Amino acid sequence: MGKDVIIACDFDSKARTLEFLDNFKDKKPFVKIGMELFYSEGPDIVREIKKRGHRIFLDLKLHDIPNTVKKSMAVLSALDVDITNLHAGGAIPMMKAAVEGLTRPDGTRPLLIAVTQLTSTDQQTMENDLLIKEPIDKVVMHYASNAKKAGLDGVVCSPLEAGKVHEICGRDFITVTPGVRFADGDIGDQKRVMTPAQAKEIGSDYIVVGRPITAADNPVEAYERCLKEFID
Ligand code: C5P
Repeated sequence: MGKDVIIACDFDSKARTLEFLDNFKDKKPFVKIGMELFYSEGPDIVREIKKRGHRIFLDLKLHDIPNTVKKSMAVLSALDVDITNLHAGGAIPMMKAAVEGLTRPDGTRPLLIAVTQLTSTDQQTMENDLLIKEPIDKVVMHYASNAKKAGLDGVVCSPLEAGKVHEICGRDFITVTPGVRFADGDIGDQKRVMTPAQAKEIGSDYIVVGRPITAADNPVEAYERCLKEFID
């Protein structure tokens, strides 16, 4: 499993995104395209960034009936992204259908990972709004196991959960972890954060880093610092 730093390109336009990526010249960081950019620019933004030589995590978090997810995943697979995702809350039949939809005629497919519980959902919200009374860690690990049973490759989780996910689902089940901050940086609206070095220590496979890189005075330097702390 290749460890890497994925930059969350949370921009609202193609122009701003490409201007940001131009800073990196011939370095080609792995980038995450989320709903904001995808919904404002459409699939062409994926083609454009791919054409420039970047690997892409398309973070659209699908959640619908199995047939709809299967057909949508086939569309995303044709876009040639490297990683995409869905909500494990859609349950095992939906996740299995997603794997089928994503698999190309030659048997290859992008990696597929699941969001377990959003980090914006806490125990109280889960109990009151979703009527789930179990402890949140147990729910997260159960959803990760369901994702594994359905044939997915891993989960998006907090770096604090990555070690336990590997214990339960195996070392090859990948963990993609946002909520990363430099020790001397601003944590912003993230609540539970880790440094790249701590994320490495705990066994995250990919870290997703947005503002510590996108809002830095020197984004290339910030990206390189992440790589150094996380990989070296
Ligand atoms: O700017 P920052 O480093 O906080 O960006 C983190 C990225 O990871 C954002 O794109 C955010 O939407 C995403 N993310 C997250 N927490 C999750 C899932 C995704 O921060 N649980």
